[in-house]
Amino acid sequence: MADSRETLTINAFVAGYPIKHSRSPIIHSYWLKKFGIDGAYRAVEISPEDFPDFIAQLKQGKADMPVGGNVTIPHKEVAYRLADRPDALAEELGAANTIWVEEGRVHATNTDGYGFVANLDERHPGWDKIDRAVVLGAGGASRAVIQSLRDRGIGEIHVLNRTVERARELADRFGSRVFSHPQAALHEIMGGAGLFVNTTSLGMDGTEAPELDFSPLAADAVVTDIVYVPLKTPILKMAEQQGMATVDGLGMLLHQARPGFKRWFGEMPEVDETLRSLIIEDMEKHG
Ligand code: ATR
Repeated sequence: MADSRETLTINAFVAGYPIKHSRSPIIHSYWLKKFGIDGAYRAVEISPEDFPDFIAQLKQGKADMPVGGNVTIPHKEVAYRLADRPDALAEELGAANTIWVEEGRVHATNTDGYGFVANLDERHPGWDKIDRAVVLGAGGASRAVIQSLRDRGIGEIHVLNRTVERARELADRFGSRVFSHPQAALHEIMGGAGLFVNTTSLGMDGTEAPELDFSPLAADAVVTDIVYVPLKTPILKMAEQQGMATVDGLGMLLHQARPGFKRWFGEMPEVDETLRSLIIEDMEKHG
């Protein structure tokens, strides 16, 4: 009897390299317990060398194999490339963070952008009644942010980056409402914007964050950071001290997990304060 019960357990994973700091197992285990679902979500460390084999095994779809999972650094681009059915979001980003298997085919999407806007919707409803957003940084994480702002219908999205070529690349990729600038133009470009998003690690690598003056932003603008460790990043601290409304990045992590959970386990979970506290507790323990 024990065996037949075991085959009913729905398995999912988060695959990364390294993976031990992933907080995704805490999130999904919390929801599994809440819904009383017979499921398991585990972190698996897979090296880049072994990742293609891992995907090939998934496609075999054996009863005890996971139904899907999350992929994180450094596998997001390869997961997209190896997927049989990437959706339009993953296609445009060239990266996937959520995969699932259907009839031997690997499907892939990217829920980072969903997580980003859902966090703002939750923490600062009405944030999107703006004409202009400013995104600092043009790395991998910035792409999903830009895509989600564009898809939400924000009129102008201005991307600034230390290396302006990378910002230009993103403006080309994401269409006519996305504009690129060197980081030096920040003060001017912030003028009248209703949202400021930091996607860089400025001030996080032991160096001092440059002093940013948020006064050109609209008076009711929101400043947010996609980094969530620490919860109050140097940029959020600065914005708060200048009287700006701020939203921390933890909710992006929590909300990006929801569509995957629905896909693998069948229920759309909610982000609540208990879940937030569980992650904050873990951050306090492990940094
Ligand atoms: P991620 O995928 O997390 O976005 P990434 O691709 O390494 O990581 O991008 C990091 C971003 O932070 C980039 O926009 C980077 O600017 P460059 O493209 O010029 O490298 C930005 N960044 C990191 N450290 C920075 C610093 N000290 N000053 C300004 N920008 C910085």
